[in-house]
Amino acid sequence: MCTFIRRMRISHLNTARWLSTSRTNNMKVSVLGAAGGIGQPLSLLLKQSPLISHLALYDIVNTPGVAADLSHINTSTIVTSHTESPELYHCLKDADLVVIPAGVPRKPGMTRDDLFTTNASIVKHLATGCAEHCPNAFICIIANPVNSTVPITAEVFKDNGVYNPKKIFGVTTLDIVRANTFVAVSKDLDVNQVSIPVVGGHAGVTILPLLSQAKPTVNFSNEELTTLTTRIQNAGTEVVEAKAGQGSATLSMAYAGARFVFSLLRAAQGERGISECAFVESTVVPELPYFSTPLLLGKEGIAQNFGLGKLSDFEKKGLEALIPELSKNIEKGIRFNKFE
Ligand code: NAD
Ligand code: LMR
Repeated sequence: MCTFIRRMRISHLNTARWLSTSRTNNMKVSVLGAAGGIGQPLSLLLKQSPLISHLALYDIVNTPGVAADLSHINTSTIVTSHTESPELYHCLKDADLVVIPAGVPRKPGMTRDDLFTTNASIVKHLATGCAEHCPNAFICIIANPVNSTVPITAEVFKDNGVYNPKKIFGVTTLDIVRANTFVAVSKDLDVNQVSIPVVGGHAGVTILPLLSQAKPTVNFSNEELTTLTTRIQNAGTEVVEAKAGQGSATLSMAYAGARFVFSLLRAAQGERGISECAFVESTVVPELPYFSTPLLLGKEGIAQNFGLGKLSDFEKKGLEALIPELSKNIEKGIRFNKFE
């Protein structure tokens, strides 16, 4: 799409925004890293949502092709394409929500922390764009290591004097999606009825499923608890190994990312009672300034943090075990911003 037509469309959208009496169906969502393994299927799911009037796609490569392709789908969401740093402004201006899957994925044998060297700089650059061009948007970080990229984003917003801890989220929804699936399959339950909170962070032992709080109530043997917890913690690695060098989870992540975005948008438009787990600034565990717990979402982001609830002895041990690792990951993100 040529730049002129794109600008016309953006300016038309902005006019429509001013004329509108309600924000319903008038939300702009920007996807940064839109041409990637997650970005493409995520954008496909978002294009189908009546909640989104404008889907702005940004990547350093291949964005025009992805945007042209999606723009032929007969839904009312307008798609615009933005490539290269100067166009980041147009992608982010007036955005209500930004989702960031930009960054490299793992290969077999790597930890998420091994991605830090490359992804920390990418996230810092994109977070700076968000702080400058759409400081009031909801920011949803998918890029790994989430345990560090969320603190990096928060620090960038603080440096720019626009930090709102209620609006910056590390997307951990895939852990919940996996926990629900694995428990439903192992206990022969209807997966649509299963809901498992997953707290902590998003890497290895920092992922802590609270199986004692499963809905509906389920009894697990000690062996089942260990097997299921370990599988949920290693599920990302399961996919990385199965893809054998071709990346990590993309399709299930797109599904999970879309679920999280839709929850936030519905809450932003006034729907009540919407809750999701996410990795956010937190005081739930005093040693950890960021932590994932179930959150009530509202018009301005986090309306209430539900905390940990009652933990089983097994989960208390898991919590103790994750604190040193998660603390290190968070500190690494905070330090990166100060010294890089
Ligand atoms: P990918 O390599 O397929 O796609 C990444 C995209 O980011 C590419 O299109 C690339 O061009 C783009 N990109 C790189 N630098 C950029 C920049 N500066 N600005 C804009 N775009 C840029 O990777 P993927 O499989 O889509 O995974 C992306 C990230 O998501 C990885 O870090 C991965 O570990 C992470 N991930 C997180 C979760 C989660 O649960 N939070 C789940 C799966 C993957
Ligand atoms: C996942 O959980 O699938 C993602 O964090 C990607 C990865 O590297 O495992």
